[in-house]
Amino acid sequence: MASALSGASSTLDSSADSSWNPEGASFPKSFAWGASTAAYQVEGGWDADGKGPSVWDTFTHQGGDRVFKNQTGVEYYDKMIDSLLANDVTPVVTLYHFDLPQCLEDQGGWRSGAMVEAFDSYAQFCFRTFGDRVKLWITINEPYVMAELGYEEGMMAPGIKELGTGAYLAAHNMIKAHAAAWHTYDRLFRKTQGGLVSIALNSDWAEPFDPNSVADQEAAKRHVAFCLDWFAAPIFLNGDYPAIMKSQISAMCKRQGSPSLRLPEFTEEEKMMIKGTADFFSLNYYTSRKIKHRDNTHSPPSMSADKEAEQVTEPSWPVATGSSWLAVVPWGLRRLLKYIKDTYNHPIIYITENGFSQSDPAALDDTQRWEYFRLTLLEILKAIYIDGVQLKGYFVWSLLDNFEWTCGYRSRFGLFHVDFENPALPRAPYKSAIEYAKVIANNGLMKSHG
Ligand code: BGC
Repeated sequence: MASALSGASSTLDSSADSSWNPEGASFPKSFAWGASTAAYQVEGGWDADGKGPSVWDTFTHQGGDRVFKNQTGVEYYDKMIDSLLANDVTPVVTLYHFDLPQCLEDQGGWRSGAMVEAFDSYAQFCFRTFGDRVKLWITINEPYVMAELGYEEGMMAPGIKELGTGAYLAAHNMIKAHAAAWHTYDRLFRKTQGGLVSIALNSDWAEPFDPNSVADQEAAKRHVAFCLDWFAAPIFLNGDYPAIMKSQISAMCKRQGSPSLRLPEFTEEEKMMIKGTADFFSLNYYTSRKIKHRDNTHSPPSMSADKEAEQVTEPSWPVATGSSWLAVVPWGLRRLLKYIKDTYNHPIIYITENGFSQSDPAALDDTQRWEYFRLTLLEILKAIYIDGVQLKGYFVWSLLDNFEWTCGYRSRFGLFHVDFENPALPRAPYKSAIEYAKVIANNGLMKSHG
């Protein structure tokens, strides 16, 4: 697998941008096509076979769901990995996708430094148990989402509302936990297993509301800094938070008369430990935002106030029918990819999530949604061939309609429709699944997909 991930993509001259038509182009050889899911969103069986409750079981008031120290869980994933491989599907495994065991949350969850060791030993267990067959690992899915929505605004499990400190603290421990797991892989397994380890970072692309306003341009940069760079800068660059974030939070703390900096600091030793702990860049992209500067000098402490950046709805951008937050902006993905290339030393990138939801009930003929996918794939081709981005794979979120967190089953992201009313949960392909299969078979978009 490692060899499929190396090597640069060929590039067209950027002056060809306007004249080059990506429609008939093929994706690079060995481009990885996929579809993603997450345990909690598709598996069910929250209290089956000795599985303990996770924070989401508590948050959704069901009561109780996991793998570690649970033989049935291990057998379940063993079987799944084996059957994927038997069907020529390469598994990319995420160790943690929002469903922290409730017992760990009860000890402080990601606000506690003890999570670093707990996560590291869980990661070590998974590398040892499944690493003979799994060669691509993601430690943590979207630490930004967990930190902001789970520990700052309390809108997702575990529902902690600690404005101005919760997200920074949770993120701090997640970064250290990721780095510890990467080192464990590097030290104990890389030589024998030959796999790669990264962390899935989500980010919007941000455009200045007024492209001629320096304040809006700076605010747009802050929007990306407080989301993507917050994690990518320490991990891919220098072990530390982006300068723009540190100076912004420090200025806000001073103005608010806060005695200490609300953003925790890494020690020099921790910086050395964190720096360079990703073997590829795993990006989850859904949307773009127009951003305007907003003066928050007098606001009470919160991460959102620290940013001094306001999101403005752009009426010309279509919105996915199943998610009001999801403005569909395929060209934003190209810009984000170029930004990552330029900022993070031209890494190998995988898009590990991208998708558009439909509201319920959803028609199997999702022509409009397929058009979004098609436009996105065209932008990806431009990113590869015009911008020279080393993009090695694209995975649709999601394989199946599933439990979309606080939206439950109403927001449908699947390539396959699931009838949740029927206990047998029958599945049927949307048009997008059929068209996506053609793209995969052709390794490119054919004119007939238009
Ligand atoms: C998450 C998925 C979620 C998807 C759509 C991503 O942020 O990783 O779990 O279902 O977005 O909201």
